[in-house]
Amino acid sequence: MLPPYTLEMNSEKELRLLHEQIVSCTKCPLHKTRMNAVPGEGPFNARVMFIGEAPGAKEDELGRPFVGRSGILLISMIEKIGLSREEVFITSILKSRPPKNRTPNRTEINACLPHLERQLDLICPDVAVLLGGVAISTIIGPWKVADAHGRFYNGNAQTYFMTYHPAAALRFPSLKKTMEEDFERLRIELGLSGD
Ligand code: URA
Repeated sequence: MLPPYTLEMNSEKELRLLHEQIVSCTKCPLHKTRMNAVPGEGPFNARVMFIGEAPGAKEDELGRPFVGRSGILLISMIEKIGLSREEVFITSILKSRPPKNRTPNRTEINACLPHLERQLDLICPDVAVLLGGVAISTIIGPWKVADAHGRFYNGNAQTYFMTYHPAAALRFPSLKKTMEEDFERLRIELGLSGD
């Protein structure tokens, strides 16, 4: 049997290799219109993984996830429950920006999903947080965010937690409080003491 540090080194290296494959991926037409693919970022041994919908303009420009307005709100909520951007893994269902930020289509999701599945396999987070309808319907199936939010779901050897996408809370400010209440549930489940 391999000692644990060997397994850790392998996961770290494999995650780096996977991200190299993602930045040069041409499996869907979005590779022609993107500036940069956005594989995601965070440590290979993160306890919590956040999964959004798709990169926006700023993410496409910088090749980094959640660095625009939604990102600022997401990170503030992450910090409120006692975590930091540096210690969680942040990614999205799609790794390339759809033109004009339109909703990802089935072909794009099917082409990109194996990348996320591999990230989940390598990182094995305690909880993967699904942000918004696209992440929830892709991973769990058809379920309205309004009904699914604040709930945990155990599926294929992974625990998921569902909440709104921060962009929805920016559009409808009353959802910000709802999201904060969801994050409080997440904090309790993770046994964190908060900020
Ligand atoms: N919204 C997402 O879903 N992902 C990002 O990386 C940025 C905004």
